Amino acid sequence: MKRVDDFRLRFGHKEYVPIMVGGMGVDISTAELALEAARLGGIGHISDAMVNDVSDRRFDTSFVKDKTKLYKHNILNTDKSAVKFDLDILAEATRRHVGATMEAKKGDGLIFVNCMEKLTMNGPRETLQVRMASALDAGIDGITLSAGLHLGSFGLIAEHARFRDAKLGIIVSSVRALQLFLRKNAKLNRLPDFVVVEGPLAGGHLGFGLDWAQYDLAAITAEVIQYLKDEQLAIPVVAAGGIFTGSDAVSFLQAGSAAVQVATRFTVARECGLPDEVKQDYFRANEDDIVVNTISPTGYPMRMLKSSPAIGDGIRPNCESYGYLLDGSGNCAYITSYNRELALHPDGKNISVLDKTCLCTQMRNFKLWTCGHTTYRLKDTTHRQADGSYQLLSAEHIFNDYLHSVDHQVALPAPAV
Ligand SMILES: Cc1cc2nc3c(=O)[nH]c(=O)nc-3n(C[C@H](O)[C@H](O)[C@H](O)COP(=O)(O)O)c2cc1C
Repeated sequence: MKRVDDFRLRFGHKEYVPIMVGGMGVDISTAELALEAARLGGIGHISDAMVNDVSDRRFDTSFVKDKTKLYKHNILNTDKSAVKFDLDILAEATRRHVGATMEAKKGDGLIFVNCMEKLTMNGPRETLQVRMASALDAGIDGITLSAGLHLGSFGLIAEHARFRDAKLGIIVSSVRALQLFLRKNAKLNRLPDFVVVEGPLAGGHLGFGLDWAQYDLAAITAEVIQYLKDEQLAIPVVAAGGIFTGSDAVSFLQAGSAAVQVATRFTVARECGLPDEVKQDYFRANEDDIVVNTISPTGYPMRMLKSSPAIGDGIRPNCESYGYLLDGSGNCAYITSYNRELALHPDGKNISVLDKTCLCTQMRNFKLWTCGHTTYRLKDTTHRQADGSYQLLSAEHIFNDYLHSVDHQVALPAPAV
């Protein structure tokens, strides 16, 4: 019987353990988590979501405070178009986050950065360009472009010295999205080094509508593999979304995927950035505690725990401090919803916004508990302790369980002493 460890992911002449730990913003996939995946020979992701804030937390910079001070005069203004990102600061924050992570890297694996393109930052092109270029400057092994793929993204870094040496990948949820990307990129003569096919059971934003349950990762992955074969394109395909056991992973590897991308199992790792009490909410979750809804202002459905404090919260938009979702004209769907509620409650008190959430503030404060569909199975991966809490796991334990498990077994950790 095959195990994941019987397979290898090949990039050129190099081989890696075919497990990618997916990017989880905002700093849920921490440097510590990504570094463990790389140390064990696989691929770890950090995320550049809200990187100025991540830098403040990691390196004691004051980028968010400084931005808030700069735009303080605008806080009560419903028009946020004046709130811009300073590109030099964005570059510095990215270089710090990526640079420190790469310096700490050990082992034979790789570290990629997950770049969500839906973070349009009131300047979609220039901010994305700075994010990608600074990550390359700081030595990142690769970039995975996700959520809101701009078809021209590779072009933004085509002049960078590392454009052809770093691994560049994209996340798609359909063969059509891949076709469009490849067509648009043809003139650059630079194919993606890998394609992540993310199915409907993943965490975070989904590349499907509310009819997500009608789609099937194995079917979409097979279509993508077939399409690439027909086009004679040797691009490794990485299946993602709902791959819970080593045996699940093996079935994708046997069907032609070069690797799998996993995340949910790692949300309860000690190295994961979620606060420990939130990890306990993930453990306790039952299947009907998990919803896919449309409260993300990005326009993409998002999966989360129903009990997320963010749902229905009516906090004043914090664009002067954050503003990562402002589109090129300074709008965000949450601002529109908030202003509607403010008009009904002009004193600003007791505001509840049900249809959208202030994603920046809520993700930053770990109040929006996005999760994969299989989160309700996490309780089966560990021990329940005498006080009723669940024992956290090490990333190494989870990684090795994927690598060696057979028959859909999940190895429990050694009980905590
Ligand atoms: C808590 C959480 C946060 C996530 N955040 C992001 C993100 O910021 N960007 C992204 O591209 N994918 C994100 N994802 C998706 C994962 O990277 C991954 O592709 C997917 O969840 C894999 O499926 P699994 O969770 O069932 O293993 C997130 C997933 C989880 C569980």
